[in-house]
Amino acid sequence: MLNFEVINPTRIVFGKDQLDRLSELLSEYQVKKVLLAYGGGSIKRIGLFDKLIERLNDFEVVEFGGIEANPEYTTLMKAVTLGREKEVDFILAVGGGSVIDGVKFISGAIPYTGEPWDVLEKKEDCNFEAAIPFGTVLTLPATGSEANSGAVVSRSELEAKRVMGGPLFFPKFSFCDPSLIATLPKRQIANGIIDAYMHTLEQYLTYPTDNLLQEREAEGILKTLIEIAPEVIVDPSNYRAAANLMHCATHALNGNLRCGVPTDWTTHMIGHELTAFYGIDHARTLAIIAPRLYEHTFDNKKEKLAQYGERVWGLTGGLESRAKGAIVKTEQFFNSLGVDTRLSQHTDAYENTAERIRTIFEERGWTAMGERQAVLPHDIEQIVKSSY
Ligand code: NZQ
Ligand code: ZN
Repeated sequence: MLNFEVINPTRIVFGKDQLDRLSELLSEYQVKKVLLAYGGGSIKRIGLFDKLIERLNDFEVVEFGGIEANPEYTTLMKAVTLGREKEVDFILAVGGGSVIDGVKFISGAIPYTGEPWDVLEKKEDCNFEAAIPFGTVLTLPATGSEANSGAVVSRSELEAKRVMGGPLFFPKFSFCDPSLIATLPKRQIANGIIDAYMHTLEQYLTYPTDNLLQEREAEGILKTLIEIAPEVIVDPSNYRAAANLMHCATHALNGNLRCGVPTDWTTHMIGHELTAFYGIDHARTLAIIAPRLYEHTFDNKKEKLAQYGERVWGLTGGLESRAKGAIVKTEQFFNSLGVDTRLSQHTDAYENTAERIRTIFEERGWTAMGERQAVLPHDIEQIVKSSY
């Protein structure tokens, strides 16, 4: 088992009717003025906005709506200006990963005196040094952002999608109410299942370890997602299925699965570029890349692929056949959720994508991804090409 250190200070308040405790939790942080941040309006359509306003009666509320999917730097900077002007002392993020990620950025950028884009560009000595405390109300189970300290911010005029994070960016609390997902379109439910599934696989599909518990926890999440997927996609108001999806998604990226095991985030790193170029939904980019990555790095991952095939999909036979079967099963699972796994099914402009991503990885100095045998920029080019 590899050495590890883990901390997760976020308080998860899970279940129905828990929002009644919002005011009590905010009072614990001596909050006076709350920036209420949300997306394109779904929270108003599902009646959540009114409920929140009622429960925020004791606080001064400054509203900021319009944070889009794949939150945009320019939009978020407007919230930063508003937050500074109004001197808010807490931010409440209400939405999916995009709103929550956006709020993580806003919380660091408000007190920052430099140019916040430099932090996202990872320029030398440019770091957020403080953050306005924030909490979340999750409306879309997918990213795990409600329970981790990472965020992804886009800047479409530069075709850029950048990651940020660190200990300052754990939410103080997150309300996770599965009944809030009853209104989610099928597309977003499918995205949520795939994102949680891929977070698990990126921390599992490397090489066999002697961390038996961690491997079984990952397999448990994968099996649970496979079990509940057909139910929740047909009827997201099915509380049992919705609750399990939400619990899986949080658990998949709250820092637990990476304890004492190698990880390989290549699929995510390539996927972010596909969203930056073509606006393809985050989870869909993962479904496009993962099967091709596993084929390309087959020799490196085959023992673990075989274990996954056997324990999660019930495959039998020799190692190679179980490992190959596991890739087929994974792709079929994504397809069964209505998600196409070829880049050309998502954009017509795919022709030079592989070369462009290779160049970006080279420019960033990402010369080696993967775990045991490095995945190099020329591998990345081949993986993306085979996804066309
Ligand atoms: O904007 P509104 O109107 O709220 O609509 C949203 C949005 O259009 C809608 N929606 C959310 N909850 C709803 C709802 N519609 C009806 N009923 C509800 N209850 O769903 C749409 C998509 O929302 P979004 O937040 O964009 O989706 P998701 O949660 O998948 O977040 C994706 C973003 O998270 C980043 C991705 O890169 C992407 O930018 N990620 C963040 C991670 C993290 N912080 O740990 C890890 C992930 O790997 C990922 O990279
Ligand atoms: Zn993801």
